Amino acid sequence: MKALIVFDSVYGNTEKIAKAIAGAISGDVKVLRASEVNPSELEFIDLLIVGSPTQGGRPTLATQDFLDKVSKPAIKGINVAAFDTRFSTKLVGIFGYTAGKIADSLKRNGGNLLASPGAFFVKGKEGPLKEGELEHAASWAKEILKRCNPQERSCRTDGGC
Ligand SMILES: Cc1cc2nc3c(=O)[nH]c(=O)nc-3n(C[C@H](O)[C@H](O)[C@H](O)COP(=O)(O)O)c2cc1C
Repeated sequence: MKALIVFDSVYGNTEKIAKAIAGAISGDVKVLRASEVNPSELEFIDLLIVGSPTQGGRPTLATQDFLDKVSKPAIKGINVAAFDTRFSTKLVGIFGYTAGKIADSLKRNGGNLLASPGAFFVKGKEGPLKEGELEHAASWAKEILKRCNPQERSCRTDGGC
């Protein structure tokens, strides 16, 4: 299993979630800040997970820049998943989910979405994370892994490959 986890983080909370997800995945796992990803990093991966803090209902600019740079050939058929951190769901009805927007973008480029977008909560703008969110992140990652077969590169969203 070769996995790449791309995140952005202003106060460090989304970075902690990205690392908790990485810790739950065995194999060759790289965790990179969105602004530091070289397009060649997307070659030969089995799984791409992208996460961002919610800012005004959207991913951060660095995350959006990364998503804009992800080309169709680079992720076509690759297993993908998305997550965000947020402090409230109150504005979600108006602005939508950040993780959902990331997932839509990855899907539009041909990614094979493996799971519902992950949402992880902080207690305030700067954090900290709510209790249990690191464990929640690890179990979200394990659900993704159950659906991911590195040999096939074509896992189904209903589980199994
Ligand atoms: C400019 C800005 C806008 C934000 N907008 C939202 C929002 O619309 N909804 C929400 O739930 N949280 C919002 N937040 C809180 C962030 O989601 C929170 O800062 C983030 O989860 C912390 O992650 P980080 O430590 O990785 O930066 C906002 C934070 C900032 C700084």
